[in-house]
Order: sequence, then structure tokens, then C-alpha cells
Amino acid sequence: MHVPTAKPVYVLNGPNLNMLGLREPSIYGHETLADVEARVHRHAEKLGLRVEFRQTNYEGELVTWIQEARDKACGILLNAGALTHTSVAVLDALNAAELPAIEVHLSNVFRREAFRHQSYVSLAAVGVICGFGPASYTLALDGLASILAGKTAGTKASA
Ligand code: DQA
Repeated sequence: MHVPTAKPVYVLNGPNLNMLGLREPSIYGHETLADVEARVHRHAEKLGLRVEFRQTNYEGELVTWIQEARDKACGILLNAGALTHTSVAVLDALNAAELPAIEVHLSNVFRREAFRHQSYVSLAAVGVICGFGPASYTLALDGLASILAGKTAGTKASA
């Protein structure tokens, strides 16, 4: 699939994801964030997408990047780390961005502690990919590419 878009996909990572490779490898694996980034760039190239890949430990910086994405990106892949479960500010920024956003997690958050089952990001995301390790990112990119190509309608369940 080749997606004609001039704007990049923003792949945004929240707190502690800079520690990948060192951090709890039994949960998150041995790949570093640089490895994940390289994987995402390789996969994006096959899909004809450009990627802007970033990580921050600061909630405000993540909010600023999501706001920036509104004009500069064609879509968002977001692994907000622990902010997934706590941040109304990230949710509000995603809603304001009015872009297709996919929530990503390396681990299967639903097999873990109950507090990880709650996600503010999910309230704004088209879909969620979790539990596939670094492949969660490339699977999410496939999903976003399909939406951008008009082959998948993003669905929104009504409350
Ligand atoms: C995570 C899951 C979160 O619950 C956790 O706080 C993270 C990483 C994941 O990728 O599996 O930092 O988002």
C-alpha cells in the first residue's frame, strides 16, 4: 500500500520509553527505543510514509507535540506510557488535534495491573494495538496507513 501524503506521521512516546532495553526486559523486551525507531522508519518507507519519531518524559511536552501535529502531521501513533492511564491533558490535546490517532503499547496492558486497564488515550484513538512488543508500532502503522488510504473507516463507538 502506498499512501500519498506530504505530511509525516508523528510517532510520539511518553515517560520511561527512553529506558527500553534496560527497563523490565521481561515485560518490554531487549530492543532499545533507537531499535524501535529504526524498525518504524524501515516499515514506514515500505508504506510510503514519513515518520517524525520523538520521546519525552514530560506531560506538557507531549501535549505541545500533539498540538503541533494538528498542522504538521497526517496522523499520530501514540505510546503515552503511564500518561495513558492518568492524563486528561493528553486526551484533550488528541481531541483538539482532529487527526487519526492510534494508541500503542508494547505490553498487553490488559494482562497487567488493573490501573493499566483504564486509558484516557483510548477515548480519542481510532484503535489500540498492544501486546506485540516492538511490532505493536509497525502493526499500528499498517492500521494508520489503511485509514489514510481510505481503506479503513475509523470507527467511533457511541457512548
Ligand atoms: C506501556 C504500558 C504502560 O502501562 C506503561 O506505563 C509504560 C509502557 C507499554 O508500552 O506497554 O510505560 O505504554
